[in-house]
Amino acid sequence: MRDLVIAMTGASGAAYCLRLLEVLVAAGRTVHLTISPAATQVLRHELDLQVDLNAFDPQQLLPADGQVSSDSKLKLLKPDGGGGYAASSIFSDSEVFTGKIVYHHYRDYSSGIASGSFLTGGMVICPCSMGTLASIATGQSQNLIHRAADVHLKERRKLVVVPRETPLSVIALDNMKRLAEAGATILPAMPGFYHSPKSIHDLIDFVVARICDQLGVQNELIQRWGADSSRG
Ligand SMILES: Cc1cc2nc3c(=O)[nH]c(=O)nc-3n(C[C@H](O)[C@H](O)[C@H](O)COP(=O)(O)O)c2cc1C
Repeated sequence: MRDLVIAMTGASGAAYCLRLLEVLVAAGRTVHLTISPAATQVLRHELDLQVDLNAFDPQQLLPADGQVSSDSKLKLLKPDGGGGYAASSIFSDSEVFTGKIVYHHYRDYSSGIASGSFLTGGMVICPCSMGTLASIATGQSQNLIHRAADVHLKERRKLVVVPRETPLSVIALDNMKRLAEAGATILPAMPGFYHSPKSIHDLIDFVVARICDQLGVQNELIQRWGADSSRG
């Protein structure tokens, strides 16, 4: 299984990315994570998390008090004792430490993920701001996130872009069209409601499940349409 690249940018919906990280690590994947400065503002505003990009530790993605609320599915990351981070398996009741997170500063162009020779199984930008969308669509490579996305496009590897904005300007729509034509998958943070969501977590899981499907990561996060015989 090849490593995956996950970039978090400054659009609303940081919780999508945290859940995605959790699911991928629980699925045993090594995730190369990079975060934009604007994403730290969103993390602070939406989830009350203080993330220091110059001294990053995945534990900063845990709730401030270190406690996970009992009704939360966002059980997130725990140190694995070996310098890595892992999540308890969401696929069984037992604690299974599996994948890990490798952090890359958004300005570190010497990072492996800045090069096409570093093989990956794909990249996801989640959530993706309109600013990052525009930068990638115009090939600007102004930070590691843009550069890694550019690499995935040029190498014809999977690039999943999860934009979040509403309404959408013609500029944003044009940029999405351009990226789709270049080979990216545009997967808007648009949860469906046909799986009978009971909570925000169910809505988050809807989007994360679709991202995992794109990456070929097996998951049972949501009831799949057609899988329930009562629906015919
Ligand atoms: C709390 C918060 C929410 C934001 N939500 C969005 C959003 O949903 N979509 C978007 O395109 N920009 C949003 N922004 C603005 C972006 O963060 C801003 O355009 C930034 O320059 C994006 O930089 P980045 O792409 O490098 O992360 C938000 C900013 C903040 C602080």
